[in-house]
Amino acid sequence: MIEFRDVHKYYGDYHALRGITATIRAGEFFSLLGPSGCGKTTLLRTIAGFEDISSGVVLIDGKDMARVAANVRPTNMVFQSYAIFPHMSVAENVAFGLRRDPRSRAEKAAAVEEALEMVGLKGYGGRAAHALSGGQRQRVALARALILKPKVLLLDEPLSALDKKMREHMQVELIKLQRQVGITFILVTHDQEEALVMSDRIAVMFEGQIAQLADPETLYRRPATRQVADFIGTMNFIPARILDETGGRIEIEAPGLGRATLSADQAPPARGDAPAVGLRPETLTLVYPGQSTEERTFPGHIDEVIYFGDMTYYDVILEGTEIEMRLSMRNVPGRPVLDVGTKVDVAWSPEALVLFR
Ligand SMILES: Nc1ncnc2c1ncn2[C@@H]1O[C@H](COP(=O)(O)OP(=O)(O)OP(=O)(O)O)[C@@H](O)[C@H]1O
Ligand SMILES: [Mg+2]
Repeated sequence: MIEFRDVHKYYGDYHALRGITATIRAGEFFSLLGPSGCGKTTLLRTIAGFEDISSGVVLIDGKDMARVAANVRPTNMVFQSYAIFPHMSVAENVAFGLRRDPRSRAEKAAAVEEALEMVGLKGYGGRAAHALSGGQRQRVALARALILKPKVLLLDEPLSALDKKMREHMQVELIKLQRQVGITFILVTHDQEEALVMSDRIAVMFEGQIAQLADPETLYRRPATRQVADFIGTMNFIPARILDETGGRIEIEAPGLGRATLSADQAPPARGDAPAVGLRPETLTLVYPGQSTEERTFPGHIDEVIYFGDMTYYDVILEGTEIEMRLSMRNVPGRPVLDVGTKVDVAWSPEALVLFR
């Protein structure tokens, strides 16, 4: 549907996009995820045609967009700030997209009603736009984009101005809407949870480049770089030594963990970094006094306790080192929250390791 071939963008001397190559499939929910300033909005604007590129090619449906103006591209964009007209009614706002449409008044009114129904605002057409909540305004902006029946809907942090509850509600609404209308959604977000929850696939960007493009589970379980692992969720890193690598098996040694054997798929392609193994907090388990485990363990002491209601996070210092490991435990009846200073054993398993090097 959309293809980037080695796209570069300079703002003066500033190299904002540094060789973007990627394909976005028709009908998928695709997210651009990365920290502030990494180039997400810039990349989205190159699809919409609001931004010229310095070199490379952007194709939509196999067609080079180089000389195609924004207003004739099969895309529509919903901006971060709602950008609806407060002095107009909801229906007038939605119909605004149709101002150059040759259809009759009645046909346009029916299209407005249909678009409002899609975003769950049926019957709100006569309401003044300023008399809406933030979430409702955002849905008006969506309806205004959808009424043009774009093949691709571009969403630049459309939910960032909403409170947590409303944002989570709208995330579900957006997923449902995308499934219902079946068009390609491209969402820009710097919120990793939002990207994981909503997307079929995610491109993780840093400094104008895509570090990894994959489905949410692959990104989380098999991050390609330490930077990706750190940006998506939390990962503990422990410096490691590679002892042997033969026949798709990698033998490592790390302080506290000792020796472990990994399969090749636990090691993303080497990048020339100092070797380190990563462990997610939820793959580690505190061994409570009186309990035993079949798993391998390392000793440590609790340095920090962070209580989250349903979960408790512990920072455990690996005995004999200064390495701090974060782990998470679900709070269930009969499982007390332990105190800072408690000596504990932590269970871990070699299959949960990811090797970065
Ligand atoms: N018109 C411009 N002129 C010069 N530099 C720009 C311009 N627009 C963006 N930049 C720079 O390009 C880089 C990427 O900007 P962009 O807006 O794409 O980031 P972003 O990933 O969307 O960030 P955020 O999450 O903060 O919205 C930033 O360093 C920004 O300062
Ligand atoms: Mg942006």
